[in-house]
Amino acid sequence: MQRRRLKTGVLISGSGTNLQALIDACASSDFPAEIVLVISNRADAGGLARAKRAGIPTKVIPHKEYPSREAFDTAVDTALRGGGVEFVCLAGFMRLLTPGFVNQWHDQLVNVHPSLLPAFKGIDAVEQALAAGVSRTGCTVHFVRPEMDTGPILLQMEVPIEAGDSSEVLHDRIRQAEHRAYPQALRLIAAGKVTVSGETVTITDN
Ligand code: GAR
Repeated sequence: MQRRRLKTGVLISGSGTNLQALIDACASSDFPAEIVLVISNRADAGGLARAKRAGIPTKVIPHKEYPSREAFDTAVDTALRGGGVEFVCLAGFMRLLTPGFVNQWHDQLVNVHPSLLPAFKGIDAVEQALAAGVSRTGCTVHFVRPEMDTGPILLQMEVPIEAGDSSEVLHDRIRQAEHRAYPQALRLIAAGKVTVSGETVTITDN
């Protein structure tokens, strides 16, 4: 008999390679989560085609059509709840969410970021790492809190920076780590192996 799977919504803005990694993980019958809805704020996001190929319902909610961030976030929240979503993954979603939305989804909302947080917050994390001259960077999966790129850290994977790396080459290397880390994080959460207490994450994996 099929076990109950965590009904997950994924928010995207772009190519959706992390979405693809989650889709591929969910294709396994023993994976404890399923993607029931993909929402994009951009109609041209490549990830929408990935969802459609996998038979996952999609919705485009163009942020420019809303008078405020709050109105946009309310539309996203309504779509998620209407789609039966229990848990939300941000996967290259390039909009800052309002505190109201983030608090509604407290500990039910995670993000993947292309650096070892708290280093290099923001949209240009890969370029910041190159400019800083560090030899290692990586990716972080974290629970979302209202302040940008903050929140309890669930998983991090380190990635080396090689001499002569362009931001594209380095970002591709980080994406490869993200594609392993994000499904692993969702598996742990959906299997009930993650607790957040005092803003610290504990993982029980046995
Ligand atoms: C990923 O590297 C993700 O970490 C980053 O955008 C990329 C999306 O790639 N997110 C952020 O920078 C959020 N601050 P994808 O669309 O191929 O999954």
